[in-house]
Amino acid sequence: MTPHPVVLSLAAGLLAGCLGQSPSATPGPVDTPETPLEPDGTLIIAHRGYSGIAPENTDVAVDLGAASGAEYVEIDVQMASDGGLVVMHDTTLSRTTNAPLTYPARAPWNVGDFTLDEMRGLDGGTWYGFSGDPGNFNYVGEPVPDLRTILDTLRDRAGLLLEVKSPDLYPGIEAAIAAELESAGWVMNGQPMQPLIVQSFDWGSMATYAALHPDVPIGLLGNPPSEDAVWNDISRYADAINPSHSNVDQATVDEIHRRGFEVSVYTVNDTTRAAELIAMGVDGIITDQPARLLLERDRELSPSGAFELGNPEITELSGLAQSTRTPGVFWALNDSGDAARVFAFDRLGRSLGEAAVRPAFNLDWEDMASYATDDGHFLLMADVGDNDAIRPFVNLYIAPEPELMPATGSLTVSTELTVVYPDGARDCEGVAVDPEERAVYLLSKRDPLPRLYRVPLDATPVLPTTAEYLGEITSLPLPNTGQLEPAGSITNVSPTGFSISVDGRHALIVTLEHSYRYTRQAGQTWLDALNTTPEIVDVPDYAQIESGEFIGSGPAFLIGSEGSPAPMFATSP
Ligand code: G3P
Ligand code: CA
Repeated sequence: MTPHPVVLSLAAGLLAGCLGQSPSATPGPVDTPETPLEPDGTLIIAHRGYSGIAPENTDVAVDLGAASGAEYVEIDVQMASDGGLVVMHDTTLSRTTNAPLTYPARAPWNVGDFTLDEMRGLDGGTWYGFSGDPGNFNYVGEPVPDLRTILDTLRDRAGLLLEVKSPDLYPGIEAAIAAELESAGWVMNGQPMQPLIVQSFDWGSMATYAALHPDVPIGLLGNPPSEDAVWNDISRYADAINPSHSNVDQATVDEIHRRGFEVSVYTVNDTTRAAELIAMGVDGIITDQPARLLLERDRELSPSGAFELGNPEITELSGLAQSTRTPGVFWALNDSGDAARVFAFDRLGRSLGEAAVRPAFNLDWEDMASYATDDGHFLLMADVGDNDAIRPFVNLYIAPEPELMPATGSLTVSTELTVVYPDGARDCEGVAVDPEERAVYLLSKRDPLPRLYRVPLDATPVLPTTAEYLGEITSLPLPNTGQLEPAGSITNVSPTGFSISVDGRHALIVTLEHSYRYTRQAGQTWLDALNTTPEIVDVPDYAQIESGEFIGSGPAFLIGSEGSPAPMFATSP
């Protein structure tokens, strides 16, 4: 229960700041300044990964949990017969794997009777298609992960709430987990390097673990004790009491806090109940539906969905992009006339600083995109505005997204793409990236029907690249006049922003007045998807909406308008 010292990376420090808890449970450096990311209370914790949409305790579920923006991901850990550490909830393999089919003679398929390699070879995903989500067979063959795989997946992305499951069955599991956390770099010299909490229903096991890693926060699953002697005992090694939400009321929360402990509750998927618990002041909610509860939590803080950007320097908001590095962080830019710079903010608009973009020039920056590939995390600043269709070329500036927020400093452009349209100069305010395709999509603004173009991310830098013209977008309603306007006109359906969701399933076109959300079918091109009928999503009647971006993996999204402070709006899912 001592504060954690200083050695953490700045990225982990940012996340720890984001997770903002009292010193006893915050595995962040003590000298990291508070960031405005702190969600004013309740953390959202993805239960067994994002188990509402993917098979529990698999790598894909954990990956989705981190992508959802949950501050922590919870998993269950057990020990194999050879001492390996496997991620699995039940103490037998029969419910969530194909062990009964693969090893018919080894009933009752106890976890502790199988080697780690045997379990890693099992299919931990097919059951979900039958039981969890009939008709969804995306997860056929998803392997049973070991702990190391999950530690690598979560690194620098979200905290880990590690439950030691049934440790009475696995003598020595506490030491094995401690060693694995150290081997993977999650704990160094006893200090957590990432946001980390270890918990169990077995309080004796937690005392054993705490003796190995006294500075790793410890959670005790179950109801709070009723006797002072027990409180005194657990105060030596534990930091949180984590009961079922059904056993929790305001008095319970207050008593746990009065005793100096935090409280996270499991398992809450209903937003009404989540709102009650947030109002009680619980420190964390463990949920199968993290995206749903994140929206609920943030709506608690901004009930209408409307908010303003806190940085008055953002006067002509023209592009938005969400961080692919740090859940809950967004980036913005001003259009022409501003310096080449970008701004960071959180989901409630609180400023996280700004950064110059070098070398670059803001002739007319009109949109922004973010993406992650095997090469890393990137921001793309699109200097593509051309009101009078006179530019011989436009520019796309690509810079690695920084690990920490740019209170000062700069982004260094790693690639500058120079783009020429095959059909002559045109104005554009909508740019999105599909990292799977390694392509940038540009959507023209002042054509009678918007035109879609594509440029490879891997195009030769600096030298002009001719964009590929893909076709017109005919799905947007005609302007109020009912007539197609001539080239050069702006209408109420001229695109001012364009975005593709992280999972590649949705696209968003925003115009000065409306927002149009598209759903792409498997195998569909973006041109075809954008020519299906969109969902018209209600947004406020702001003066000049010029930007939109998905929240998490969508389909909820943010829109923003010019003005200072810039008016913003977050939709519901
Ligand atoms: O993290 C709390 C929760 O996971 C405990 O219950 O059965 O889902 O592991 P269970
Ligand atoms: Ca659990």
